[in-house]
Amino acid sequence: MSLTLKPQVRVRAKISSIGMYVPPKLLRNADLEKMVATNDQWIVERTGIRERHIVEPGVATSDLATEAARDCLAKRGIEASEVEVILVATVTPDMMFPATACLVQDKLGAKGAWGFDLSAACSGFLYALQVGAKLVESGAHKKVMVIGADVMSSILDYTDRSTCILFGDGAGAVLLEPTEEGEVGLVDYQHEIDGSGACSLYMPGGGSLHPSTAETVEKKMHFVHQEGGAVFKVAVRKMAELSETLLTRNGLTAEDVDCFVPHQANKRIILATADRLGMPEERVVINIGEYGNTTAGTIPLAMHTAMNSGCLKKGDTVLLASFGGGYTVGATLLRWEL
Ligand code: UT7
Repeated sequence: MSLTLKPQVRVRAKISSIGMYVPPKLLRNADLEKMVATNDQWIVERTGIRERHIVEPGVATSDLATEAARDCLAKRGIEASEVEVILVATVTPDMMFPATACLVQDKLGAKGAWGFDLSAACSGFLYALQVGAKLVESGAHKKVMVIGADVMSSILDYTDRSTCILFGDGAGAVLLEPTEEGEVGLVDYQHEIDGSGACSLYMPGGGSLHPSTAETVEKKMHFVHQEGGAVFKVAVRKMAELSETLLTRNGLTAEDVDCFVPHQANKRIILATADRLGMPEERVVINIGEYGNTTAGTIPLAMHTAMNSGCLKKGDTVLLASFGGGYTVGATLLRWEL
């Protein structure tokens, strides 16, 4: 006797809502000029950044993440109690543990949800997006909140001009739900990690290798350290490579992409990657000028910017690409259904 199986109906995941939050306080290039030996012209020319938002003391990643999730839920018009899973991508959790996802669950009032944090630096949001999509595609869950949130100002050395000018604080959140008739949603992804780049972009102190001591503080091991030039080259090459692989596998070229949303680390990295892909600048989302690099926050913030400015419309073919500490690389292809 054989089991009677129902015909396979592929459930797909779609982004059904998007929200964001940045703290109100601005840190402009002119403010940084008073803190380190830098100037507005250098920062704008070399990075494209004009200002970034930073938190007041006492405001943590879970606060930003919760506000972004609230915005996302309000736009969808549903209650927090309907959220089944909360995934928080971050490298600046409120604490080593509990997971920031737990703190967000409580602040949001998402009773009955489960979830966890995911650490993949600037690719964190794309990785969490795929994990969330798989939970929806498997049929296990119908409402998954995916949040990219970082308070980078908490791990920056504001005497190091090579890093402190680059980053800002912010959070973006999307809700994932199953697609409905005629919708496509998330299509495919290509991810890669390469730990040989670990020491080119990292925060050495505070983990199990170098637990916090007076010495780790004195040696500034609790701050971001980066070899900017090395990271720059790999970022362009790998984002373009994985994006190309993803497009080719799906029978697409850059011409078919309506909107390219890359990680916002440096305007020159974004433009060089787009150039390699043959993507015209008018289809590339760039909002780094206003937010700087918010690490896990950049891609949802950029999608939010693109949707509000009318660059991202229902039915658009969208390519997302990321590169970050690890190294971590990600590329995602989707159809925008909002
Ligand atoms: O999101 C995660 C991934 N991260 C990234 O993708 C970041 C990748 N790297 C970058 O975006 C760039 O490498 C930086 C923006 C970090 C640096 O830009 P760069 O064009 O690579 O500059 P550089 O490090 O080669 O420095 C050029 C010059 C140096 O002076 P000398 O040696 O030529 O006299 C630096 O000391 O610029 C100097 N410099 C600065 N000058 C004014 C470095 N930082 C600053 C500054 N203001 N803030």
